[in-house]
Order: sequence, then C-alpha cells, then structure tokens
Amino acid sequence: MVVEAKDWRKRLIASAILAGLVFGGLGAGLALGLFGTSAEQTVEIGGPFTLTDQTGARLTDADLRGKPFTVFFGFTHCPEVCPTTLWEMSEALKALGPDADKLRVLFVSVDPTRDTPDVLSRYIRSFDNRIVGLTGSEAEIAAVGKAYRAYWEKVPTEDGDYTMNHTASIFMMDADGRFVGTIAYEEQADVRLAKLQRLIAGS
Ligand code: NI
Repeated sequence: MVVEAKDWRKRLIASAILAGLVFGGLGAGLALGLFGTSAEQTVEIGGPFTLTDQTGARLTDADLRGKPFTVFFGFTHCPEVCPTTLWEMSEALKALGPDADKLRVLFVSVDPTRDTPDVLSRYIRSFDNRIVGLTGSEAEIAAVGKAYRAYWEKVPTEDGDYTMNHTASIFMMDADGRFVGTIAYEEQADVRLAKLQRLIAGS
C-alpha cells in the first residue's frame, strides 16, 4: 500500500510537470503567435461576419472598415468576466475622450438564444451606449467565433439553468480588419488605455 501511494505521488508529480510543460509550451507558442513581429505573424484572427446589433440593424465586417475596433465575446447573464470587461472598456472610452469616436467597441454574444437585440440593448445601456452589442443566429455566431478563434462552452448549473465559459481576451483589429493584438482580462487600466491609443494612432 505504501509503495502504491508513493507511486501515485510520483505519477501525480510527473503528470503535473508534463501538464506544466504542455500548457507552458502552448502559452509560449500562443504568445509568440499573437505578439510576434509582423513578419512572422501567422495567427489569422478575424474575417467576414454578418450579425445584428442592439437596435436590430444588421452589421457586417465590411461596415467596420475605416476605423479600428475591438471584439469581445461574452453573454449578458455572465456573472463576472463580461460585466467587469464591459465596465473597464466603458472607463477606457471615457479616458480616451474625443478619440473614442475613432474606435468601435464590439460585444458579441455567445448566448444568442437569450441575448436578443432588446436584451443586449438594456444590458449595454448600463455600461456605455457606444458599445455595439451583437447577436445573431446560432450559425452566424458560430461563424464569427470561428473567424476570431474564440472559445465558449455551455455549462449546466445546479438549478437547471446554464452558464457559459468563454474566451476572456479582447481582440484588437485595425481599420482594415486585421488583427493587431489582444487586451487581457483585467489588464491594468493604463496598459489597456495605451494599447487602445496605439490602436487608434496606428490606423
Ligand atoms: Ni462573461
């Protein structure tokens, strides 16, 4: 029994090390891909989409040309990540002052069943009306998620309801719809602001 326990401990340690290597490697690879020099920028993020905004109007990627934009995937029932992110982006829009007009901030719902344009409209009003809330059919949402390599997953809750796990990074896109980098979840306010200012200045 003692030997077995020791073996288990060894195995646990070995798998922890392996997991560390695998995820560390993945992280490094992703970081290189996302933040590497433009010459070696191989990660393609972004692409065509057609969605519906909180006023009920259709919006495509082509409508966004000429102004840089940010894309965040989430859902209005989100307990923490989405309200935090939308609040932080609202603060950033305030801090940008008049330059905020040179940027579009998009919030794409990964829960289109519950997030109708009306629901999105009410939700976004509690943050900043300049944020564009987007929803669509399951197929439209799946397509935009694939284009941005965003991840989400429906998770059942104990009360029979569900929540969503989802990508928490914000994608920054230039005026031509090209990916330029990300803003991390809970990025420091000054770093986030500097990134947005660079995004605006570079386009
Ligand atoms: Ni969320």
